[in-house]
Amino acid sequence: MPDLQIDMGTPIPLKIGLPVALTVDGRPVSVPRGASVMRAAAEAGVSVPKLCATDSLDAFGSCRVCLVEIEGRKGYPASCTTQVEEGMVVNTQSERLAGLRRNVVELYVSDHPLECVGCSANGECELQDVAESLGVESSRYGLAGANHQSSEKDESNPYFTFDPSQCIVCYRCIRACDDIQGTFALTVDGRGYASKVTAGQMDSFMQSDCVSCGACVDHCPTEALMEKPVIEHGLPERTVTTTCAYCGVGCSFHAELKGDTVLRMTPDKAGQANEGHACIKGRFAFGYATHKDRITSPMIRDSIDDPWREVGWEEAIGYTAERLRAIQDKYGTDSIGGITSSRCTNEETYLVQKMVRAAFGNNNVDTCARVCHSPTGYGLKTTLGESAGTQAFNSVAKADLVLVMGANPSDAHPVFASRLKHRLREGAKLIVADPRRIELVSAPHVRAEHHLALRPGSNVAFINAMAHVVITEGLEDSAFIEQRCEQEPYQQWRDFISGEQNSPEMTERSTGVPASELRAAARLFAAAPNAAIYYGLGVSEHSQGSTTVMGIANLAMATGNLGREGVGVNPLRGQNNVQGSCDMGSFPHELPGYRHISDPVVRKLFEEEWNTRLHPDPGLRIPNMFDASISGNFKGLYVQGEDLAQSDPNTHHLEKALRALECLVVQDIFLNETAKFAHVLLPGSSFLEKNGTFTNAERRISMVRKAIEPLAGLEDWEVTMALSNAMGYPMNYSHPSEIMDEIARLTPTFSGVSYEKLDRLGSIQWPCNDEAPEGTPTMHVDEFVRGKGYFAITGFIPTSERTTRKYPLLLTTGRILSQYNVGAQTRRTPNSEFYSEDVLEMHPFDAEERGIGEGDCCGIASRAGETVLRAVLTDRVQPGVVYTTFHFPASGANIITTDNSDWATNCPEYKVTAVQVSLVSEPSQWQQKYREFTSRQETLLDKARV
Ligand code: SF4
Ligand code: SF4
Ligand code: SF4
Ligand code: FES
Repeated sequence: MPDLQIDMGTPIPLKIGLPVALTVDGRPVSVPRGASVMRAAAEAGVSVPKLCATDSLDAFGSCRVCLVEIEGRKGYPASCTTQVEEGMVVNTQSERLAGLRRNVVELYVSDHPLECVGCSANGECELQDVAESLGVESSRYGLAGANHQSSEKDESNPYFTFDPSQCIVCYRCIRACDDIQGTFALTVDGRGYASKVTAGQMDSFMQSDCVSCGACVDHCPTEALMEKPVIEHGLPERTVTTTCAYCGVGCSFHAELKGDTVLRMTPDKAGQANEGHACIKGRFAFGYATHKDRITSPMIRDSIDDPWREVGWEEAIGYTAERLRAIQDKYGTDSIGGITSSRCTNEETYLVQKMVRAAFGNNNVDTCARVCHSPTGYGLKTTLGESAGTQAFNSVAKADLVLVMGANPSDAHPVFASRLKHRLREGAKLIVADPRRIELVSAPHVRAEHHLALRPGSNVAFINAMAHVVITEGLEDSAFIEQRCEQEPYQQWRDFISGEQNSPEMTERSTGVPASELRAAARLFAAAPNAAIYYGLGVSEHSQGSTTVMGIANLAMATGNLGREGVGVNPLRGQNNVQGSCDMGSFPHELPGYRHISDPVVRKLFEEEWNTRLHPDPGLRIPNMFDASISGNFKGLYVQGEDLAQSDPNTHHLEKALRALECLVVQDIFLNETAKFAHVLLPGSSFLEKNGTFTNAERRISMVRKAIEPLAGLEDWEVTMALSNAMGYPMNYSHPSEIMDEIARLTPTFSGVSYEKLDRLGSIQWPCNDEAPEGTPTMHVDEFVRGKGYFAITGFIPTSERTTRKYPLLLTTGRILSQYNVGAQTRRTPNSEFYSEDVLEMHPFDAEERGIGEGDCCGIASRAGETVLRAVLTDRVQPGVVYTTFHFPASGANIITTDNSDWATNCPEYKVTAVQVSLVSEPSQWQQKYREFTSRQETLLDKARV
């Protein structure tokens, strides 16, 4: 594998045709056609000085320090912009070249003096390196000419500084922003010596379109763009390569530290999910890990009205085990359960479900995927045979058409969004199906062919109508269907989908999408050589979430868009390890690897390895646990790294259930909303404090490596292990790698996975076993995991959540780039400077009708409850639809969401709530009570910490 940390100067071109052979400084080398002379030199082990070139960006040719001599050519061409030719003889070293290069560097130094000693980039500045290699210490031209030395710094961004006086106008930042990030926020103002990099129209970075991805900072060769912690503390001294703990893209990073302080997170060029790119969250928002609010000592209390008492680990574990055992003695084995976390590692998640099944003696385990992507698991397993996305992220580079449905990648999966935009700028077509006009609909140099603004709740009608057009207009891929799919179900589905009820004309009333536009979109989809579908929670979080997922799989099968690169069905997972927590057996009916608990053969395998008896019946799902708690049958709950009280729907019902528990154990890094109802608070460890693995949305297993010691002394898996031991079921691991070895022994899709292999390969996409020892980037290549693909009947049943005169608007929810999920991490970072409260987006027509103006307080009332948010008036939402995010607990977004859930998986219907909105002047009753309760709980915590 090439060492991707070495900058080869220009990108490697796609290998088309025979390689080209040449010599560089007498060394023979052969490189792909289209490679630059600079790249060939680097491949030959010859270093050519460079400033504007870097191998993650196309060559630009502005600095002229990379000049070379080529036999038979006049002059001194720039090696970065000159392509290799067969038989070329290149010379990179001569007195003449050295003189020319020195002259260029001296010109730079006349505007950027080599006063390196006091500079934060001293030691990693490329200008300094080039000057040193050429023996340039000062400039013959002096500093008297026009220069940028008195330019003001832009410190507006909370994470990095722009100092124009250190800028050499190499355009790397601009190209990174354009080509890699796709935001086009930067430009150069002025000409010649007066030219200056500027964000937007001479704005500050904060005022501009910049989304703080950090790509410009990573690409800047000098100190001009620099992270503030590095300016403050100096360059890092050591590096630990790990995986982002935010979204399901799973970007790889180098955590760079000085002592025990993480100074910056630099995206890893060798990271297969991100290839050196990042977003604001992973790149900059890591400060929460050492925030003063971190819980660093275990705490216990008898009742939630008591103050907390700080205790040692031993006492806390003993107290917890005793209380849970006492509950089981009194109310029965099934009266307790556990929740695993999609933010924790695979090994931690695996251990929690093992503890529930082996130590608690029941299957009452569930996970937060219940409330996000459980319909993906059900829908894809039913149709294709595996509960996971079908592609690697880089597959999108081969897509000719992309359908994005119920997802907003620019905000929720930003690094994937950048990849997608890159492909769209290359000419791929885009269809967006979403009630809201997401950024992708019209981004810089990107425009969707169709934005189908579906009415919330009409996904099934929409996807059926797409398939209806394909089938009734004869646009299906008959050969694929015949070879790859079960014929009888296909014929039944074909009859069903051809029915008039599924036509765009008949579904128009439900979807709100004009039939002619839907027909045009379906034809475009069917005609594309490679059409890929990416979807998100806007698909799954509905009463028919599983049905829509099956409808998506049907459409992909009907058009032959599965089993190769550039196509596929791709769920964009919300949290970093949602895929992993599902893989690891977090659902009450499934053991790791999605094997049903009722299967005696599978159970026996686990019983022998775990040396215990397993209960054959599925346990309780999260909503069942809450119902059982309210009815008095469920009394104890262990929740690891999950904030049910904020993230789950129908807050009133949920609070009642949490209050009814006799022992609630929360393991988390902060006093989260759920912990305010807890009796035991066990400190969690952040991703920087532990070893393990995460599995991202493309089934990619990546290493999480410990950068600092756990603040509370133990990693999360150690805490679970101690609790299991105290409960009487022995666990004895000395490192998470042993847990992964056990997972591999028990799980066929993981049988080839080990830490040794992960270290060697960087990451692995499961299945990884004897048939695929290095993993499986594309699934279902020759046949589906279930054998033949299954067309499921997907009848549209409108949700019972309807608009009425009393509740005439439909509320739907989503995410914002700078905040993450319940916000517990990002709210404790400067990301809040970008978005400090949840707001209600409303169309100006709806607002005017209600006398609501920009920034006014709006009461939002649904059948479930009421809350108050500020209004933002925008035509991003259509009339009749309002939209909010759910990152701040005081917003009470889940006060208004209802109890409705997916028929197959109980995934809540977050995306459709009928509401009325009116002008109000004060917070809702719930918000007032929430403030009181929170303040009381924080006081009880503060008392324990004094
Ligand atoms: S931080 Fe990202 S979005 Fe902002 S200017 Fe730099 S590259 Fe562009
Ligand atoms: S800010 Fe940095 S990357 Fe951008 S032009 Fe200036 S020196 Fe080059
Ligand atoms: S895209 Fe997701 S995984 Fe990547 S840095 Fe951002 S939050 Fe982290
Ligand atoms: S590196 Fe070739 S012109 Fe700048």
